[in-house]
Formats: sequence, C-alpha cells, structure tokens
Amino acid sequence: YRRLCDESPSQPLVYLRLRQAIRNVIDRREIEPGHALPSERELAQSLGISRVTVRKALAGLVEEGLLTQRHGAGTFVAERIVKPISRLTSFTEDLRARGLNPRSEFFERGIGEVTPEEAMAMNLSPGTAVVRLHRVRYAGDEPLAIERSVVPASALPDPSLVRDSLYEALEARGCRPRRALQRLRAVLLTAQHAHLLHVSPGSAGLAIERRSFLDDGRIVEFTSSWYRGDVYDFVAELHAE
Ligand code: GLP
Repeated sequence: YRRLCDESPSQPLVYLRLRQAIRNVIDRREIEPGHALPSERELAQSLGISRVTVRKALAGLVEEGLLTQRHGAGTFVAERIVKPISRLTSFTEDLRARGLNPRSEFFERGIGEVTPEEAMAMNLSPGTAVVRLHRVRYAGDEPLAIERSVVPASALPDPSLVRDSLYEALEARGCRPRRALQRLRAVLLTAQHAHLLHVSPGSAGLAIERRSFLDDGRIVEFTSSWYRGDVYDFVAELHAE
C-alpha cells in the first residue's frame, strides 16, 4: 500500500486511496480470501497515517463486502464465491469446484399438481404433476441460498430421487437441462429468508429465477432462489455481437 499513500501523504482523501490500494491487493490475490490483513495499528504505523484513516478505509471495504471483521481477531479478506453466469451448472458443481462441501436441508420434497401460477410460468397445462423442492443450500455449515424448484414429474417422477443435487437426479434420468433462461434481481432479504440465511433482516440479496429446458424445448425446472448478497459475485463474459 506504501506507494499509493506516499504519492501524496498530505492528501485529504488518503482513506480513499488506501481503500483502492487494498482493493487492488485483494484483486491481485496478494492476500488470499480468508487470510488476515495487518492490524490497524501496523497499517497506520507503516504508512505513517492515523488509525482513524485506516479504520475508515477498512470500514468502507467491509461495507463493500470485500473484507470481514471479527471482533478481537482482526480484519480478513472475505471469502466470496465467484460464479460465472454464462455456464449452466448446478449449485453442487459450483461449490465442489471450489473445494466446498454442498449440502441441502429440505422444507419440502413432494409431488402435487401444478398451481395456476406455476403452470403459467412453465407453460404447462393445468393438472400437470410436478415435484416441488424447497430447501436451504449450504456450504458446510454456512447457509448461502434458499431455493424453491418445480420440476415436471415427467422429468422426475419421484421427489426422493433428489438426495442433495437436483441436476444429478435429472442427469440420471437423461433429463439434465441443456439451456436456461435466468433473471437476476437485487432484493432486500425478508425477515424469514434472512433468518434462514443467518443474516440480518433487510440485508442485500440476489433473487434469481431459472427456467431450464431440454434440447427439444421441454421445460425441466422453474427455480426461484434467494442468494446472500454478502458472499456471492455473479460474473459474466460479454461478447460484442
Ligand atoms: C443452482 C440454480 C438452480 C438449480 C440448482 C441445481 O442453484 N440456481 O436453478 O436448480 O443450481 O443444483 P443442485 O443440482 O445442486 O440441486
């Protein structure tokens, strides 16, 4: 950080420059996610700036979700999950690829008739049988998302075929989705969702709706998810044409 702060030590917005310098350190992974930053005192001393300035810079980065602070333990680079949104992958695959342990806790895993709203959203005829899954998705003990999935029984006749991963169950039936439409929306998590996700009510979240299809156009899933905004980054590669 030294270079940045040295350029103009008398600059009134030193905390903003320090904030940017730390952001760069994180982007370049010079300090790995989960690892600690030097203490406030060490930073202030080595940079020749006040602890108030250091604190202000760190507080801004905590607010951005790039750092976390644990009382008495210090400041750490946040362990965010970066998920490319251009690939049709499952929660289980995404977490395993990061060496994390995906887990689901079900509220509901049953079969029934499609509701009028679901029939409309999925373009199914009234009376169609569907499997419904409602679950909290975890990485180890940490809840990351809530998901409510509706799957036509023609693709998945028995809800108990889903042990942990919906896509694994669909794949085993030769019905793994091949294409999906996904909508992302910023939300404030409701008290109920916040409680399940172990965050404060009103925390930032991402609501995601995914409709997935087979090659022949048949729909295989309509899933509404609420992801914690403080741990997820969704990234996409964009092409000009
Ligand atoms: C993601 C998607 C859901 C999909 C799920 C499948 O979370 N947002 O639409 O249903 O992955 O994951 P899994 O196979 O782990 O159940």
